[in-house]
Amino acid sequence: MTTTTPDKFTISRRGLLKTGAAAASVPAFTAAPAVAAPAPAPGGAALARVTLVVNGKTQRLSLDTRTTLLDALREHLHLTGTKKGCDHGQCGACTVMLDGRRINSCLTLAVMHEGAKVTTIEGLGAPGRMHPMQAAFVKHDGYQCGYCTPGQICSAVGMLGEIAQGVPSHVSADLTARPQLSTVEFRERMSGNICRCGAYSNIVEAISEVAGVAGVKA
Ligand code: FES
Ligand code: FES
Repeated sequence: MTTTTPDKFTISRRGLLKTGAAAASVPAFTAAPAVAAPAPAPGGAALARVTLVVNGKTQRLSLDTRTTLLDALREHLHLTGTKKGCDHGQCGACTVMLDGRRINSCLTLAVMHEGAKVTTIEGLGAPGRMHPMQAAFVKHDGYQCGYCTPGQICSAVGMLGEIAQGVPSHVSADLTARPQLSTVEFRERMSGNICRCGAYSNIVEAISEVAGVAGVKA
């Protein structure tokens, strides 16, 4: 029950609940209007400038901030040696070296890497002056269709660098010891690079030769 006096207003518990329920049932569109979102820029894209050093050459780009490093390389710099397989970080076809470390270029935005040094398969070597890993892949038939090959080679170069730096892998028995140069290590460390043609044993033979452990059974 609700009672009112000239200078005092009281409300019963039942009345308070009814009032609250009525307020809650008021449609949302009667609420005060929210602050309007800013209008999108013409074309809907936010552009940013980024400078990358790609294969030793300084490249200044103006990119949609959503551009992956992979698309910056392929679509803007026309370095199509780096392949787009899954575009989801699952196949390794897009592997490049970023400041000396291998990376899936489809999983990172170009604008995140201002001033970074990027090495693609074109920067590793070329016909007539091949990188030892490229030469070993040719020698050991480490490919069939070749689509995964640029990523495999960049990944293999980065992988041997990680072993040299003592970075352990999932199969390293002793995390404090220098990792072994073994096919078990190579296979584990290259497991992010998928080859639909199944050239794995030849790839491991090529890597083994470059690592100086040729002759180990792949
Ligand atoms: S395209 Fe990047 S991992 Fe497949
Ligand atoms: S050589 Fe064809 S996918 Fe690896």
